[in-house]
Amino acid sequence: MRLPESQVAVLEAASATDAQTIDQLAEATSLKPETVTGAAFDLRDDGLVDVEETVETSATLTDEGEEYLADGLPEVRLYRAALDAGADEDPVEMGQLIGASGLGGPKVQIALSNFARKGYGVIDGGKVDADPDADPDADEEAAALAAVADGDAGSVDDVVLDQLESRGLVARDERTVRSVTLTEDGVTVLMEGVEAAQTVDRLTPEMLTTGEWEDVEFTEYNVEADAPTTQGGKTHILRQTADRVKDTLVGMGFKEMEGPHADADFWINDCLFMPQDHPARTHWDRFALDVPPIHEVPEDLVDRVEDAHRNGVGEDGDGYHSPWSEDFARQVALRGHTTSLSMRYLSGYAQGDLEPPQRYFSVEKVYRNDTLDPTHLLEFYQIEGWVMAEDLSVRDLMGTFEEFYRQFGITDIQFKPHYNPYTEPSFELFGRHPETGEMIEIGNSGMFRPEVLEPLGVECDVMAWGLALERLLMLMYGFEDIRDVHGTLCDLELLRETEVLH
Ligand code: PHE
Repeated sequence: MRLPESQVAVLEAASATDAQTIDQLAEATSLKPETVTGAAFDLRDDGLVDVEETVETSATLTDEGEEYLADGLPEVRLYRAALDAGADEDPVEMGQLIGASGLGGPKVQIALSNFARKGYGVIDGGKVDADPDADPDADEEAAALAAVADGDAGSVDDVVLDQLESRGLVARDERTVRSVTLTEDGVTVLMEGVEAAQTVDRLTPEMLTTGEWEDVEFTEYNVEADAPTTQGGKTHILRQTADRVKDTLVGMGFKEMEGPHADADFWINDCLFMPQDHPARTHWDRFALDVPPIHEVPEDLVDRVEDAHRNGVGEDGDGYHSPWSEDFARQVALRGHTTSLSMRYLSGYAQGDLEPPQRYFSVEKVYRNDTLDPTHLLEFYQIEGWVMAEDLSVRDLMGTFEEFYRQFGITDIQFKPHYNPYTEPSFELFGRHPETGEMIEIGNSGMFRPEVLEPLGVECDVMAWGLALERLLMLMYGFEDIRDVHGTLCDLELLRETEVLH
């Protein structure tokens, strides 16, 4: 029988009686493990070998595990100190034992909780009563630490190993081990004689010109062969989606805004006709920064904004009649929305005066002093945007959202009348969650009021919005907890495997 070279090598190295691992075969044949795996699977498909898969767990000591292996487990040290102090006869003050055992810092707590769990004694009213019958030399976990250190984790009871793992003393790793044995057919084929076919795995220009291609045998592709998984770096799905949002908005004719994360309250709130005594401007909601106030805010704009707050805008306009202080306006806070950027651009401060029509956006981080829960984070990304043009209507606003969300496959969106101090009318946006079927809030929007636009010097209409990037992800991928895509609780597998569709 003629077989490719690597298969012949594996077949000859394999045995009908002793299963051999891929690594052993790789060593015996001087082939790479992945070549042996490929050959073994091909031989298995031809019925010449059996491939058995087992999951092997290996365990290694963590730094903390190494430390306890050298110094003793904290609870054992506490027990020994207790015996030395006679706590097996009369309870002894805990402080005294801790001093004697030499335990410090977090190890004290570790010692105490494991001492009781393992029945080394009872801790009551700050005193330790040691059990005279306990045997610290028979501590299963201490023995297991030593076994793991000797590379003999296999001999350790699983329950004990689990316990050590949950204490962070041992790290376990699982891998699939494949072992190969010859089948009867394999033995027969070997006895009849196998011959290595000189197969070639690629066609070269030389083969074509010399005509050699006509005589060679080509290696067959095995598209099902296992290949080692490579886990390279990858852009986080949140960042990938942010990039996609940017591409989409640029495709819709928008330009990107940029500006500071920490900004004067003037840009974050005052320009937006947010009264200075508004609840959102208290320390409950905002992250104030203990830094000197910002000086370079345009003086004439400050005057016009103050005037809008005090006296209102237009003939029948009315101000808030509430206190307004320039000092407060210059205080610095982390922006609670990126509408601060819209103010910087609309006022002409960022890029000079803008003539309509204009479209701008940003996809940037905002900061709110909220309570963390499945739908709220203290930091999240806002998709800010605005369109400046003559005669805009609510239909334009709704149409823009429909067009935007449709590009992400989201067509079921609803609008709910809302109130913002800076827009009239205002709308909250809702989208249907693909898993729960509930309508969840995905953004806030409206047409800027004259009290905002007039001080900025804008004479036409401006429609604007702030949408939550994380909520868009929830609608796209069905996440139910925003922490699935943010922070340390994020599942690595999910980050590796979720594909962002363009
Ligand atoms: N700033 C609003 C928010 O954070 C969003 C918004 C921006 C609403 C512009 C209307 C106009 O919820």
